[in-house]
Amino acid sequence: MEKKRILSGMRPTGPLHLGHLVGALMNWRELQSDYECYYMIADWHALMSEYHDSSRIAEFGRIMLAEWIACGLDPQRSVLFRQSDVPEHCELHLILSTVTPIGWLERCPTYKEQLQELAAKEVNTYAFLGYPVLQAADILMYRAHLVPVGEDQLPHLEITREIARRFNGLFGAVFPEPQAKLTPTPRLLGLDRRKMSKSYGNYIALGDEPDDIRRKIMSMITDPQRIRRSDPGHPEICNVHDYYAAFFPGEAAAVAERCRHAQVGCTDCKRRLGEGLVEMLSPICSRRNDLLADTATLDRILEEGRQRAQATAHATMTAVRQALKF
Ligand code: TRP
Ligand code: SF4
Repeated sequence: MEKKRILSGMRPTGPLHLGHLVGALMNWRELQSDYECYYMIADWHALMSEYHDSSRIAEFGRIMLAEWIACGLDPQRSVLFRQSDVPEHCELHLILSTVTPIGWLERCPTYKEQLQELAAKEVNTYAFLGYPVLQAADILMYRAHLVPVGEDQLPHLEITREIARRFNGLFGAVFPEPQAKLTPTPRLLGLDRRKMSKSYGNYIALGDEPDDIRRKIMSMITDPQRIRRSDPGHPEICNVHDYYAAFFPGEAAAVAERCRHAQVGCTDCKRRLGEGLVEMLSPICSRRNDLLADTATLDRILEEGRQRAQATAHATMTAVRQALKF
């Protein structure tokens, strides 16, 4: 039987961190065995909020590609490509925008939130309102059945389905209606228990040095009620325990048990987590650095990704133009 198709994307606006690893990459990596996967560097989506200074988008995109591969995305099995290498996305975006009522976009909850959150970036632009339409073009271009995303992206998936339905109703059945495939792991909080975010700097990046990883883990806040080493702890409210559960699920139960019975101190508990993460990240980090030093290989992977993505994009656009009677 033919494999179902998946598309997902990430905006190259900064270095990847542990949140991307649990929130997306570990899932994307697993999906490669059962699906035909397209993973896209969403550089035009990045431009929509970073247009004041677009100078680092290209660099972040290359680093992101190297980190994806270092984390196990396989350019042989999956199509890893850059959105701006496939200009057909622009054409489909424009065509889909003709059937998208402005109200759908204005009512989109992520739009209202982002306008507030990113006020300093002046995203009250025409393009930013249409962010979900470009995302719909990304997904529908590959006629993806499933889109692995976090919960925050569900409104965009809903708009994508509505646009597909509207297009199909007007012009004939060209697009399948894609389904969201929610990431199974719960969201990982930042080191300070706030949302993991570039502006707070409260995360461990995939490219961090071992000593930075150790230092950052030691700075984590644990169960605040556990004052003395002999006090029993509450792993269910401890961020350190959540990190064990996310990265070393086989150890989490034992950690919780020892914590509840005060058989381990927080300093030791964190030190072991730090060592575990150093060990887990060091092969990823060295593979990333090797790839970043090998410009020719990265270029070749991008070029192959472009060719494979564009072949599919071509076929879709032919069907779209026929449906429009253009
Ligand atoms: N909007 C997504 C995000 O911020 C990135 C993205 C762009 C995307 N195009 C996509 C995700 C298509 C899934 C499918 O995370
Ligand atoms: Fe958290 Fe570990 Fe301390 Fe328990 S022992 S409170 S899990 S750091």
